[in-house]
Amino acid sequence: MIIAPSLLASDFSRAGREAHRVDQSGADWLHLDIMDGHFVPNISFGPALVKAVRPFCKLPFDVHLMCEKPEILLEPFVQAGADHMIVHVELGEQVMQLIWKIKSFGKKVGLAMNPPTAIATVLPFLEKIDSLLIMTVNPGFGGQGFIEETLPKIQQAAEWRTERKLNFHIEVDGGINFQTAAECARVGADTFVSGTTLFSQRSMKAAVKKMRKIINAHDPALADLAV
Ligand code: DX5
Ligand code: ZN
Repeated sequence: MIIAPSLLASDFSRAGREAHRVDQSGADWLHLDIMDGHFVPNISFGPALVKAVRPFCKLPFDVHLMCEKPEILLEPFVQAGADHMIVHVELGEQVMQLIWKIKSFGKKVGLAMNPPTAIATVLPFLEKIDSLLIMTVNPGFGGQGFIEETLPKIQQAAEWRTERKLNFHIEVDGGINFQTAAECARVGADTFVSGTTLFSQRSMKAAVKKMRKIINAHDPALADLAV
């Protein structure tokens, strides 16, 4: 089980300290949401900020590119210290090439999908990716409500993963709080991106501990063992 706080929900005026807070929280990855104002109706931050916070957090950097032209951004984010690069399946024909390009940099590959996108769209790529990111809100903004209709997609992805003996992470992103994390864990998610919930707590460390306890308690693999 992986917990990845999203820097989007942090106080940008103290980004380095916020990245350090994540580093010290017991979380596993730092999630970085890159928005270009075209693929989504918002702009967040770019490689310069990622590079500036890199020395403050030793965790893997999980870079989520909500961008129309990720091909021009891969190298700058590699230089800035990205460890995982996530591109969206909605980009269509370019996706396979983007996957190979990320691999050519020696980085882990993530494939993301928006709530309205059918789960079958990711089928051709499952053997080539390290994580499948299922958006549980429409991308663009933090602090939105979880879309319950995305749960069957998580369950389907988990079934395909077992049937095909694959081991990509199933990552959920958007509206993840203690309750929705449990719902996602129950149907097979293993990686939890959470912005508003984790950053709004006075102690992120306590919040991460609480979320970990909840998701472990809902891990279907462990539930099978208990039977
Ligand atoms: C949404 C981003 C998310 C977002 C999650 O477009 O991809 O990663 O930061 O934030 P919360 O947890 O606030 O929904
Ligand atoms: Zn994200």
